[in-house]
Amino acid sequence: MKIDEIPTPAAVIDAAALNRNLQTMSERLPGSSLRPHVKAHKCTALAAQQAALGHLAFTCATPREVLGMIEAGVGQDLLLANAVLDVDRLKQVARAAEAAGVIARVAVDSPETIDAAHRAGIRDVIIDVDVGMPRCGIAPTEAGRLADLARQHGLAVSGVMGYEGHLQMVTDRDEARERVTTAMKLLRSAHDDVGGDIVSTGGTGTHDLHTIGLEHPTGVTDVQAGSYVMVDTQYASLQQGFEQALTIVGTVIAHHEQRYVTDVGLKALGMDHGDPAIDSCKVWFCSDEHTTFSSSEQTFHLGERVHVRPAHVDPTIARHEYLWLVEDGEVVDRWAIDLRHW
Ligand SMILES: Cc1ncc(COP(=O)(O)O)c(C=O)c1O
Repeated sequence: MKIDEIPTPAAVIDAAALNRNLQTMSERLPGSSLRPHVKAHKCTALAAQQAALGHLAFTCATPREVLGMIEAGVGQDLLLANAVLDVDRLKQVARAAEAAGVIARVAVDSPETIDAAHRAGIRDVIIDVDVGMPRCGIAPTEAGRLADLARQHGLAVSGVMGYEGHLQMVTDRDEARERVTTAMKLLRSAHDDVGGDIVSTGGTGTHDLHTIGLEHPTGVTDVQAGSYVMVDTQYASLQQGFEQALTIVGTVIAHHEQRYVTDVGLKALGMDHGDPAIDSCKVWFCSDEHTTFSSSEQTFHLGERVHVRPAHVDPTIARHEYLWLVEDGEVVDRWAIDLRHW
């Protein structure tokens, strides 16, 4: 099948670029020093490629992602890096992990999340610490008390995590390094009070700013990067040596005066990081089912395919059923985006 025969809009991956991204990250953060975040691709077939490169511990954002990974038999150590109060869903995670002999650790940041994990039969928790991003995560000075409470509930406490999401797009790398170090001092001070083997943090934007190893005063055990596999226009601007492997392929469905219209619209794109890009074109705007664009360098005919580069990979992927892998214009595989929903 040729790329032009895929029904559009379609999430298309340049297989060679994907492999280079996987390889590059694996060389920088080998084995257990990378805990790939599956929320970026939501695809167990892609996670299996990461596992084949030696990354057997994964980060997940939803119970569905953890369950899907267990069902697919990918990964041995799954961290649900999110506050979850839904006891029924956590019960499913606990049962599936037990049956498969997989470690499922759940992040907790309150007595209520501890209670939910306990009631669900979860065995391992990790204390989620606020390192400066105003989202989930308990204050570093409170982390030790929360760990004590978890232990009183009979839960094993594996360590701490703290996602410095507010620092992922700091473009001045010296400033980024300094602020990451400050955030990691907070995480390590929490770890001193919590104990456990794991200090987990980081994303694609900061993966190169962390020191691996707890013998270093601000070192961590693993980095939770996810977007590096496909890279959106936002992360591409950091120029970290990864390629934009994902495009949403659309069909040019209208051409009037100087404007073209493709069938890749808001329902095929995550838009929270702004408009997508089309090489050598000016994107005018996106609407539900359309992106309107123009080009002073290129002409398009109706029916022609156009590659739309999303500004944010994660919410874009969650809108698609399949990843189409393409090499030299030929479709070589189709992977289900099977970790979608909650
Ligand atoms: C808890 C957590 N860890 C890590 C990441 C890093 O992911 P990425 O590599 O896509 O920046 C995220 C992204 O939002 C996250 O929420």
